[in-house]
Amino acid sequence: METRDRKTLTRRVAPHAAVLLLAILAALAGALTTPESLAADNPGFPDAGAAEPAGKTPAQWRVIWGENPSRRAVISWSTSEATEANTVYYDTVPRKADLAAYRHKAQAGVNGRYTSRGHKLHYHHTVLEELAPNTTYFFCIGSDGQFSRELHFITAPADDADVKFLYGGDSRSDRAGRRAMNQRMRALFQADPAILCLVHGGDYIHDGDDMAQWSEWLTDHELTVTAGGRVLPVVPARGNHEAGDVQYDEVWADTGGRGKNYFRTMLAAQVMIVNLNTEISAGGDQARWLEDTLRDAAGVRWQIANYHRPAWPAVKQASAAKQHWVPLFEKYNLDVAFESDGHVIKRTVAIRGDKADPTGVVYIGEGGLGVKQRTPDPKRWYFDGGITGSASHLQKVTVTRDQLKVETILHDGRVFDTWQTGPRKRD
Ligand SMILES: [Fe+2]
Repeated sequence: METRDRKTLTRRVAPHAAVLLLAILAALAGALTTPESLAADNPGFPDAGAAEPAGKTPAQWRVIWGENPSRRAVISWSTSEATEANTVYYDTVPRKADLAAYRHKAQAGVNGRYTSRGHKLHYHHTVLEELAPNTTYFFCIGSDGQFSRELHFITAPADDADVKFLYGGDSRSDRAGRRAMNQRMRALFQADPAILCLVHGGDYIHDGDDMAQWSEWLTDHELTVTAGGRVLPVVPARGNHEAGDVQYDEVWADTGGRGKNYFRTMLAAQVMIVNLNTEISAGGDQARWLEDTLRDAAGVRWQIANYHRPAWPAVKQASAAKQHWVPLFEKYNLDVAFESDGHVIKRTVAIRGDKADPTGVVYIGEGGLGVKQRTPDPKRWYFDGGITGSASHLQKVTVTRDQLKVETILHDGRVFDTWQTGPRKRD
């Protein structure tokens, strides 16, 4: 009996030891890679282009995606001073910031001063609607006669197209690390134009009511813009470090409803992301919405979840997502759930009914977009067959008709882990 137990123990521990060794090697490599060396690896990245807002000049521009990014986008920006006339000029061909040449313009319908005790900064949100799917939109932002350079973004496809996107969370409390990860995102985005957007898993900054911190984050986000001026749209989710803070909706334009912030995003006809909010009740209205959404999407081939605090954590204890959402994920056969908050790397084994099951749901992520990494607990049963690690990272997700692939990519560009799955039967 004793011998058998020891053998069992050996089999269980050996994979974890290998994972730990990999994590240590990854952490050592990370310590040797500075943001400067990342920039040197990617010539053409300007050091500037990410300045704090000054006067009425539009700065901290961003493209925000919600429910239907093939037809609708929000273009947002900040100014240091209050402004009266706030306009986005846009077209499907480049106009080189010749304002009179743009065929469309839209006024910022929502303008105000970010809530702050001391930091003076103003927000502007312009909704672009009735856009064409899978189309490049060139745009120039104007506030009271001051203008941005011409930027562009590409709308999501509306048909059964292949898509790629980046996933990551926890970009708080290590600004140098965050800037390095933003440069890594830009490198990936430039190298692979098929990438559509960044799905963010929350915890952008440390204090969600501190506009000085948000301002730094928004400024740093400009580092994800390609040298050619393509903006990486953001699909946002709320983290516990911005739980209940009104600034979150001032930054992200009430995406998913003010204070509610849960919504589905169709990245293509057959690719759905359900973005959930772990900082309000996971049960009640949100759980009912989730069940309705998953039930109604039975014909959608790929179904993905995005939320902050994990159901299957590698560091902390399970959030309410485990009680309220996991049974629905299993009932409706979700493909993969992305989780943040732990500041580690993790991929679980497929889980169904509180045990490993190849028909179950895989949980990936835990947050590494520029935050000091913690030490995961690889002995939790759901990592037997999964992975854990500790290094700044993000996920690159590639979705085709035949396969959904998730690559966990470290700050220096190395692929730490690859997981892939085929389409489910959902009839
Ligand atoms: Fe968190």
